[in-house]
Amino acid sequence: MNVLIVYAHPNPQSFNKSILDTVDAEFKQRGDAVRIRDLYAEHFNPVLDESQLELQTQGDVPADIVQYQQDVEWADTIVIIYPLWWFDRPAILKGWFDRVFTNGFAFSFEDGEIKGLLTGKRAIVIVTTGGTREDFGKNADQLTRNTTEGTLAFCGIHDIVDRVFYSVPIVENEVRQEMLSELKSFIQKF
Ligand SMILES: Cc1cc2nc3c(=O)[nH]c(=O)nc-3n(C[C@H](O)[C@H](O)[C@H](O)COP(=O)(O)O)c2cc1C
Repeated sequence: MNVLIVYAHPNPQSFNKSILDTVDAEFKQRGDAVRIRDLYAEHFNPVLDESQLELQTQGDVPADIVQYQQDVEWADTIVIIYPLWWFDRPAILKGWFDRVFTNGFAFSFEDGEIKGLLTGKRAIVIVTTGGTREDFGKNADQLTRNTTEGTLAFCGIHDIVDRVFYSVPIVENEVRQEMLSELKSFIQKF
């Protein structure tokens, strides 16, 4: 299996980085091929500007986006790892979707209908939060929805699993280690 990991955290000492390392190691352990896209480390430009929009109307993509689209094409499974920022994705990740999941590549309009073009792929969405599950109340099941429903499912990816790790900065280190263990066994069975 080809696994693309898209990772959006600026701090190499973060818990998100431990998640990245765990996911990477577990997939490799299974014998899968892994490509990591570390958006901050790569200084990914997340701004979809007028020139790219103009290119898109001509069915073209900018040179810096071609490789990212090849990654998505190559992947059987896409893993997205990020911290929840303002109940949302970090802007760099949102911009990655804006610029990479383009009309004609990730979806199309045909006969007035939207068609997802990334069918047959699986996705895992892993999110960390500062708040507790209780803090989110009835919104707890909405935390990943912009990524899972709004983006991935829109583009034809329906086999999606999400994992939310709550209150990461305030729990004991032991609890964070348990989170990583849970993630390991989840990937072993994936
Ligand atoms: C700009 C910013 C916005 C944040 N917004 C939220 C939020 O809306 N809800 C929440 O529970 N935590 C929020 N947090 C806390 C982070 O989600 C939390 O610190 C992170 O998931 C912990 O993982 P890390 O140690 O790998 O950064 C925010 C943090 C930052 C820096």
